[in-house]
Amino acid sequence: MKITVVGTGYVGLVSGACFADVGIEVVCVDIDKKKIDKLKNGIMPIFEPGLEEIVKRNYASGRLHFSTNLAEAIQDSDVAFIAVGTPPGEDGSADLKYVLAVAEEIGQNMSDYIVVATKSTVPVTTGKKVQQTIQAALDNRGSDLEFAVASNPEFLKEGAAVEDFLKPDRIIIGVEDERAQKIMKRLYKPFQLSGDRIIYMDIPSAEMTKYTANAMLATKISFMNDIANLCELVGADANMVRKGIGSDPRIGNKFIYPGVGYGGSCFPKDVKAIVKTAKQYGYDLRVLQAVEAVNEDQKHTLVNKVKKHFGEDLSGMVFALWGLSFKPNTDDMREAPAIVIIDELRAAGATVKAYDPIAMEEAKEVYVGDKISYCNDAYDACVDADAVLLITEWSEFRLPSWKAVGKLLKNKVVFDGRNIYDRKYLNEMGFIHYGIGLGAENH
Ligand code: UGA
Repeated sequence: MKITVVGTGYVGLVSGACFADVGIEVVCVDIDKKKIDKLKNGIMPIFEPGLEEIVKRNYASGRLHFSTNLAEAIQDSDVAFIAVGTPPGEDGSADLKYVLAVAEEIGQNMSDYIVVATKSTVPVTTGKKVQQTIQAALDNRGSDLEFAVASNPEFLKEGAAVEDFLKPDRIIIGVEDERAQKIMKRLYKPFQLSGDRIIYMDIPSAEMTKYTANAMLATKISFMNDIANLCELVGADANMVRKGIGSDPRIGNKFIYPGVGYGGSCFPKDVKAIVKTAKQYGYDLRVLQAVEAVNEDQKHTLVNKVKKHFGEDLSGMVFALWGLSFKPNTDDMREAPAIVIIDELRAAGATVKAYDPIAMEEAKEVYVGDKISYCNDAYDACVDADAVLLITEWSEFRLPSWKAVGKLLKNKVVFDGRNIYDRKYLNEMGFIHYGIGLGAENH
């Protein structure tokens, strides 16, 4: 089998490399020549555990190719995956210009039957638009070639994307054409999923599934954040409540960790987009609007605690920030709560010293610039700082030497944005520990 994957962003590159790894011939296409040249030289555009190795291995074996020439790549391809970006437009809805431009180019250049499958997260009805765009391009050529469209959304988590792709929980395939379904079935055969974990459905349902999955996960997080805030007021411990409810299999113990709010390139964008889609159909998704509002508020929780402790005016104070990326094991800073936290601390007059194992370059170049100083490690960030704020739960922050931290900080105060520290132990070490929803007595 041969496939083309258009777009070497996060989804496209991981998918292309993993398909190649199970023996499929893959051409990854991107219009960005620099990016393609870098990939040919083994330089990854993103940090993702295991990706570099799998890309290099399959490129060397000759199964994985990189190209800027889409027209050439799709010749002899059984499937063309569209995995280009769908940036949010000003009104919050996903901008489809890149997706449809690819569809048009495929229609202009295809020479045989091909399945065009969307992997990018696209609003419901995009499948239809892709179909119409390809058909229009074929009509323009006076061609009667046949093709099929499919929707094959991705459920990869950043930081675990390679593993998620190679060992998926389930594969969703929206396809309404028998020949195309057979091809997609063959393509996913190497992943050894039992039959019921490949779920075939119509295209709009597959598109809806992607949004619904992310919206549901975002809902779990905002719900728990809301409950955690109440726990604090009534003197309950959100960690215990989490464990208590998580043992009910109907609820599940995942994605119910309170924190500083969800970020990343998916949840914030997808929640906004589905609310917007609903509005276009005259429907109000009230739960998801609340999910979004709670999340915006939650990004301020930690700084509110800082102000409660030190006072509203933080002039002249210095804060150590542990972690910048929106979650561990990624350098992704998109919609990271750290950005809001940094701005708020600075607005109150404080200065910020940060350390993140991977994301500092990205933060400096694109999101935070010189607003903060960047440190060599977690301890370096604590030198002469008034307190430490844990924002991202990277493994290396889990068991620091509190003795060393205590000597470096001006005040032994920890604002734990992810509830990863043992309060009792910290108290014994002379620290004041603030968490998220950990009871009135303990702040
Ligand atoms: C998310 C989904 O988990 C993937 O299944 C999906 O494929 C992907 O979006 C996508 O649409 O491409 P991702 O954005 O990589 O993946 O990150 P998650 O691991 O889901 O975390 C999202 C945010 O929720 C993070 O900011 C994390 O800190 C936060 N979170 C997560 C919590 O605050 N509490 C939790 O209990 C879990």
